[in-house]
Amino acid sequence: MLARAFLLGIQALRRATAPGQNSLTSRRNEAEVVTSRVNHVGKTFFCSNTNATSNDRSSDSEAKISVTFIDKDGEEKLVKVPIGMSMLEAAHENDVELEGACEGSLACSTCHVIVTDVDYYNKLEDPVDEENDMLDLAFGLTETSRLGCQVIASPELDGIRLALPSATRNFAVDGYVAKSH
Ligand code: FES
Repeated sequence: MLARAFLLGIQALRRATAPGQNSLTSRRNEAEVVTSRVNHVGKTFFCSNTNATSNDRSSDSEAKISVTFIDKDGEEKLVKVPIGMSMLEAAHENDVELEGACEGSLACSTCHVIVTDVDYYNKLEDPVDEENDMLDLAFGLTETSRLGCQVIASPELDGIRLALPSATRNFAVDGYVAKSH
Protein backbone atom coordinates (compact mmCIF):
# COMPACT_ATOMS: atom_id res chain seq x y z
CA MET A 1 0.00 0.00 0.00
CA LEU A 2 2.71 2.34 1.01
CA ALA A 3 4.75 1.37 -2.03
CA ARG A 4 1.80 2.03 -4.35
CA ALA A 5 1.19 5.43 -2.84
CA PHE A 6 4.88 6.22 -3.29
CA LEU A 7 4.70 5.15 -6.95
CA LEU A 8 1.56 7.22 -7.53
CA GLY A 9 3.31 10.20 -5.96
CA ILE A 10 6.30 9.79 -8.25
CA GLN A 11 4.04 9.61 -11.32
CA ALA A 12 2.10 12.70 -10.21
CA LEU A 13 5.35 14.53 -9.67
CA ARG A 14 6.55 13.58 -13.18
CA ARG A 15 3.29 14.80 -14.72
CA ALA A 16 3.53 18.06 -12.82
CA THR A 17 7.13 18.77 -13.72
CA ALA A 18 7.16 17.50 -17.31
CA PRO A 19 5.12 20.37 -18.85
CA GLY A 20 7.16 22.87 -16.85
CA GLN A 21 10.35 21.36 -18.12
CA ASN A 22 9.07 21.39 -21.67
CA SER A 23 7.97 24.92 -21.25
CA LEU A 24 11.28 25.89 -19.70
CA THR A 25 13.19 24.17 -22.47
CA SER A 26 11.09 25.73 -25.14
CA ARG A 27 11.40 29.13 -23.50
CA ARG A 28 15.13 28.64 -23.29
CA ASN A 29 15.18 27.78 -26.99
CA GLU A 30 13.04 30.79 -27.81
CA ALA A 31 15.36 32.95 -25.75
CA GLU A 32 18.32 31.59 -27.64
CA VAL A 33 16.67 32.36 -30.97
CA VAL A 34 15.74 35.84 -29.82
CA THR A 35 19.22 36.42 -28.46
CA SER A 36 20.71 35.24 -31.69
CA ARG A 37 18.42 37.57 -33.65
CA VAL A 38 19.24 40.43 -31.35
CA ASN A 39 22.93 39.69 -31.70
CA HIS A 40 22.59 39.58 -35.43
CA VAL A 41 20.52 42.71 -35.62
CA GLY A 42 22.63 44.37 -32.97
CA LYS A 43 25.78 43.50 -34.85
CA THR A 44 24.40 44.80 -38.11
CA PHE A 45 23.08 47.91 -36.41
CA PHE A 46 26.31 48.43 -34.56
CA CYS A 47 28.33 48.06 -37.75
CA SER A 48 26.17 50.37 -39.77
CA ASN A 49 26.08 52.78 -36.87
CA THR A 50 29.84 52.67 -36.61
CA ASN A 51 30.11 53.34 -40.32
CA ALA A 52 27.63 56.18 -40.07
CA THR A 53 29.52 57.65 -37.14
CA SER A 54 32.85 57.42 -38.84
CA ASN A 55 31.33 58.82 -42.04
CA ASP A 56 29.81 61.67 -40.07
CA ARG A 57 33.11 62.27 -38.36
CA SER A 58 35.06 62.22 -41.57
CA SER A 59 32.53 64.41 -43.35
CA ASP A 60 32.57 66.77 -40.35
CA SER A 61 36.31 67.01 -40.42
CA GLU A 62 36.30 67.50 -44.17
CA ALA A 63 33.38 69.91 -44.32
CA LYS A 64 34.50 73.29 -45.52
CA ILE A 65 32.78 76.46 -46.56
CA SER A 66 33.77 78.99 -49.18
CA VAL A 67 34.85 82.36 -47.87
CA THR A 68 35.99 85.28 -49.97
CA PHE A 69 38.37 87.81 -48.43
CA ILE A 70 38.55 91.17 -50.16
CA ASP A 71 41.68 93.13 -49.37
CA LYS A 72 41.90 96.90 -49.09
CA ASP A 73 42.78 97.16 -52.79
CA GLY A 74 39.65 95.25 -53.75
CA GLU A 75 41.47 92.05 -54.63
CA GLU A 76 39.48 88.95 -53.83
CA LYS A 77 40.73 85.65 -52.51
CA LEU A 78 38.41 82.67 -52.33
CA VAL A 79 39.44 80.17 -49.68
CA LYS A 80 37.99 76.99 -48.22
CA VAL A 81 37.53 77.15 -44.47
CA PRO A 82 36.89 74.09 -42.30
CA ILE A 83 33.77 74.21 -40.15
CA GLY A 84 34.72 75.48 -36.69
CA MET A 85 37.69 77.55 -37.77
CA SER A 86 37.70 81.29 -37.11
CA MET A 87 38.05 83.72 -39.98
CA LEU A 88 41.23 85.02 -38.38
CA GLU A 89 42.79 81.56 -38.48
CA ALA A 90 41.50 81.07 -42.01
CA ALA A 91 43.06 84.34 -43.10
CA HIS A 92 46.42 83.40 -41.58
CA GLU A 93 46.36 79.94 -43.16
CA ASN A 94 45.74 81.48 -46.56
CA ASP A 95 48.14 84.42 -46.43
CA VAL A 96 45.38 86.98 -46.14
CA GLU A 97 46.64 90.10 -44.42
CA LEU A 98 44.40 90.17 -41.39
CA GLU A 99 46.50 91.09 -38.43
CA GLY A 100 45.00 89.67 -35.25
CA ALA A 101 47.46 91.24 -32.80
CA CYS A 102 45.99 89.66 -29.67
CA GLU A 103 45.50 86.27 -31.32
CA GLY A 104 41.80 86.13 -30.71
CA SER A 105 41.65 87.13 -27.05
CA LEU A 106 39.33 90.08 -27.70
CA ALA A 107 41.96 92.63 -26.71
CA CYS A 108 42.41 94.41 -30.03
CA SER A 109 40.50 95.35 -33.16
CA THR A 110 43.13 94.44 -35.72
CA CYS A 111 41.11 91.46 -36.95
CA HIS A 112 38.27 93.78 -37.98
CA VAL A 113 36.38 92.52 -41.02
CA ILE A 114 33.32 93.89 -42.78
CA VAL A 115 30.66 91.41 -43.82
CA THR A 116 29.66 92.68 -47.26
CA ASP A 117 26.21 91.07 -47.32
CA VAL A 118 23.83 91.94 -44.52
CA ASP A 119 22.05 88.59 -44.90
CA TYR A 120 25.24 86.83 -43.89
CA TYR A 121 25.82 89.37 -41.13
CA ASN A 122 22.41 88.50 -39.71
CA LYS A 123 23.32 84.82 -39.62
CA LEU A 124 26.16 85.46 -37.19
CA GLU A 125 25.82 85.06 -33.46
CA ASP A 126 25.43 88.41 -31.73
CA PRO A 127 28.75 89.88 -30.61
CA VAL A 128 29.55 89.66 -26.94
CA ASP A 129 30.15 92.90 -25.01
CA GLU A 130 33.92 92.54 -25.25
CA GLU A 131 33.72 92.31 -29.02
CA ASN A 132 31.50 95.39 -29.17
CA ASP A 133 33.96 97.26 -26.97
CA MET A 134 36.81 96.39 -29.32
CA LEU A 135 34.74 97.16 -32.40
CA ASP A 136 34.09 100.65 -31.02
CA LEU A 137 37.83 101.21 -31.33
CA ALA A 138 38.10 99.74 -34.82
CA PHE A 139 39.15 101.87 -37.75
CA GLY A 140 36.38 102.38 -40.32
CA LEU A 141 33.62 100.74 -38.30
CA THR A 142 30.49 99.86 -40.31
CA GLU A 143 27.05 98.45 -39.54
CA THR A 144 28.24 94.99 -40.54
CA SER A 145 31.64 95.04 -38.88
CA ARG A 146 32.81 92.07 -36.86
CA LEU A 147 36.05 90.83 -35.39
CA GLY A 148 37.43 88.08 -37.59
CA CYS A 149 38.54 86.00 -34.63
CA GLN A 150 34.93 85.82 -33.44
CA VAL A 151 33.40 84.74 -36.74
CA ILE A 152 33.46 80.96 -36.79
CA ALA A 153 32.89 78.97 -39.97
CA SER A 154 29.54 77.21 -39.99
CA PRO A 155 27.55 75.67 -42.85
CA GLU A 156 25.14 78.62 -43.12
CA LEU A 157 28.08 80.98 -43.71
CA ASP A 158 29.06 79.20 -46.91
CA GLY A 159 29.70 81.92 -49.49
CA ILE A 160 30.32 84.74 -47.01
CA ARG A 161 32.42 87.66 -48.25
CA LEU A 162 34.60 89.60 -45.85
CA ALA A 163 36.20 92.91 -46.71
CA LEU A 164 39.28 94.04 -44.87
CA PRO A 165 39.17 97.69 -43.83
CA SER A 166 41.63 100.07 -45.46
CA ALA A 167 43.48 100.37 -42.16
CA THR A 168 43.48 98.90 -38.69
CA ARG A 169 44.15 100.53 -35.39
CA ASN A 170 46.94 98.67 -33.69
CA PHE A 171 47.10 99.93 -30.14
CA ALA A 172 50.72 99.06 -29.70
CA VAL A 173 51.81 100.82 -32.90
CA ASP A 174 49.40 103.75 -32.60
CA GLY A 175 50.34 104.43 -29.02
CA TYR A 176 46.98 103.54 -27.51
CA VAL A 177 47.27 102.65 -23.88
CA ALA A 178 44.51 100.44 -22.58
CA LYS A 179 42.95 101.70 -19.38
CA SER A 180 42.59 99.24 -16.55
CA HIS A 181 39.04 98.82 -15.26
FE1 FES B 1 42.42 90.66 -31.29
FE2 FES B 1 40.54 89.44 -32.75
S1 FES B 1 42.66 89.21 -32.84
S2 FES B 1 40.32 90.75 -31.06
